[in-house]
Amino acid sequence: MTLSGIEERFSLITADKEIFINNFSEDVKIGLTSESKHLPFVYFYDHIGSQLFEKICELPEYYLTRTETDILETNAKDIVSQFSAETVLVELGSGSSTKTRILIETFLERQRLAHYTPIDVSHQMLEESSYSLLKEYPDLEINAIAARYNEGIDHLDIRKEQQNLITWLGSSIGNFEKSEVTALLQHIQDTMHPNDRFLVGIDLQKDKTIIENAYNDTQGITAEFNLNLLTHVNRELGGDFELENFAHKAIYNEEIGRIEMYLVSNIDQKVFISGLDLEVPFTTNETIHTEHSFKYSLGDINRLAEETGLYVEQQWFDDEQLFSLNLFAPAAD
Ligand code: AVI
Repeated sequence: MTLSGIEERFSLITADKEIFINNFSEDVKIGLTSESKHLPFVYFYDHIGSQLFEKICELPEYYLTRTETDILETNAKDIVSQFSAETVLVELGSGSSTKTRILIETFLERQRLAHYTPIDVSHQMLEESSYSLLKEYPDLEINAIAARYNEGIDHLDIRKEQQNLITWLGSSIGNFEKSEVTALLQHIQDTMHPNDRFLVGIDLQKDKTIIENAYNDTQGITAEFNLNLLTHVNRELGGDFELENFAHKAIYNEEIGRIEMYLVSNIDQKVFISGLDLEVPFTTNETIHTEHSFKYSLGDINRLAEETGLYVEQQWFDDEQLFSLNLFAPAAD
């Protein structure tokens, strides 16, 4: 039996939109009035930013997407074989769900129905990607949640009799501080039943040049993605940032093991943000720190698991060991 129409197979819970808007003004105010200016990376992902990120994923220099896709394609059958037919595939930060299709298809090759719960902050992205998946797969059911990770996890309907495969792909883990990652993994571990698993894509430490090239692509798409943050502030908060007065910079900090992205002011200038009634002065070469992306060693991954009540049950790599896919299981009490 095939499931009925798209509407019957789709639900979407939305977190309160107010929270997002209020946080944006407050975060921008705090970030741009701090002694070392910074803006949270989450605000990259307005509609244009999300599209630019999709383009980044296709860049030859951005090895992360390519290697993770290869690992998933090679091992999807092995991964899916470990889960029951009733499994709910949950995805944190689902975006366009491109890589998750590999897992969805593998579930559907084996069984009649598949259940998918994408969690993402972008309501529009969730709707677009869910509709395209539902059209393509008539035996797929989607219960989407528009929320940040922690709120999304709290909305999950985790029942004992149902097995959950929670995924967090694309090395999004790298964009968070280690303390935030630990807290999030502990939260996830708290909600997991013994049969649930957590599949995480993590970019590995490697030669500095490979990493720096991935964030300084020759087509300038990453620069556009970084600068779009200023367009986002202009549009939502009435800023008058002139994009040509800022430049993109990405450098690998070997001591900390992370790539750092900045917007650098090309001149002495003052920017006015009317929605915040705020004037922001910049000196030449002053930076706004917009993102960092931690690269993990295998030891880091094991330590993280240990600290959060998990263990690495299985681990897969690409041939050059640039990227890792990690299956975490809850450690026995
Ligand atoms: C989403 N995240 C894992 C990307 C990364 O590699 O840190 C975001 C990105 N920033 C610049 N290029 C890609």
